[in-house]
Amino acid sequence: MGHETWPSRSAWPAPADWAGWRAQFPVLGRRTYLNSGSCGALSLPVRAAIEDYLELRMHEGADWGLWLGRLEALRASLAGLLGVKPGELALTASASAGLNSLASALDFVGDRRRVVVSDFEFPTSAQIWHAQARRGVEVVHVPTTAAGDEVPLAHFERLIDEHTALVAVTHVCYRNGARLDIPAIAELAHARGARVLLDCYQSVGAEPLDLAALGVDFAVGGMMKYLLGTSGTGFMFVRHALVPGLEPLATGWLAQADVAAMDITRHAPAPDARRFEAGTPGVAAFQAAAAGAAILDHIGLAAIGARVEALVTRCLAALADQGVAVATPAAPARRGATVAIRARDDAALVAALARHGIVTSCRDGNVRASFHFYNNDEDIARLLDALACERALLQ
Ligand SMILES: Cc1ncc(COP(=O)(O)O)c(C=O)c1O
Repeated sequence: MGHETWPSRSAWPAPADWAGWRAQFPVLGRRTYLNSGSCGALSLPVRAAIEDYLELRMHEGADWGLWLGRLEALRASLAGLLGVKPGELALTASASAGLNSLASALDFVGDRRRVVVSDFEFPTSAQIWHAQARRGVEVVHVPTTAAGDEVPLAHFERLIDEHTALVAVTHVCYRNGARLDIPAIAELAHARGARVLLDCYQSVGAEPLDLAALGVDFAVGGMMKYLLGTSGTGFMFVRHALVPGLEPLATGWLAQADVAAMDITRHAPAPDARRFEAGTPGVAAFQAAAAGAAILDHIGLAAIGARVEALVTRCLAALADQGVAVATPAAPARRGATVAIRARDDAALVAALARHGIVTSCRDGNVRASFHFYNNDEDIARLLDALACERALLQ
């Protein structure tokens, strides 16, 4: 299995036909969609992938061979997008599911019981480590600077030590779009004998990612945002050399070495990262994810990353021109695909922008405008016009 070319790309726009690709996302014809950091826009190919699942179930029944083959095709294309081997990837029901499986496989014994997290983490990526307190884990939080838009390397230097088992850090902060210096953090952690886990949910799909080059041991993310899929999907990368030494306690029949054996007398985990999976996958959601990954593969992450970076740069410049305060760092190397606008009342500003036909979201007092390749300069102009009308809600 896994050799079919699915979904068919024959009717797709050319990779850099940005206007053609905009037309593949119907919401863009109705709204200014700047919410990919929360949930990516739904495309026609992704809808067709979900419909394909429904059609098959409606008219043929079930075809597990076909579905599991497509799951393996997704694993291979995702591995290509992340610069890793398919056997280093587990496909999970959420980023949280991958984290829990990993946590259950790690032993926190002896003097190395600390998990170092940054204050930029998404809640799940800190809470799951706090939940391990019963197993002896102590969570150490690395604070931001007073301005709140940076967690400097010097702060990690102070807190990563010979008691650190794991450094668990986000690539791009979900609140303000700030980027951590992952290669430097990974080098520091490894020099002090700790492993490194990356949460790349806010960067995967919006830029080229090379997990090997970043130097991390583990990574988690999901397909609902810039990977263009839908909810109910996640992935976890585990560096090849570490897999044999990690046996998750959170497991299931699809994590076994020989699934077909159906052997209830023992537990024999798969030799690769599939051992971090568990039970029956959400087929429709993974088919959607496969179509999303195929779109990114077709267009190319290098082109996507360059376009997203240019849009964010132009948006920040336009906001600065208008005197709009942002929480996102200015330097391109220190930010991702999200621009966080400081608001007096963030929920009221999101609602006001919605009345202008603009879809955003808010976190931590800021309104987030997130960019993907399907956005354009008109989206920035519409955002600026709307903000000019809503000055009273800005900080
Ligand atoms: C950075 C980051 N990490 C983790 C998550 C949580 O992912 P999941 O709900 O798949 O566990 C999110 C979701 O918004 C996120 O933005």
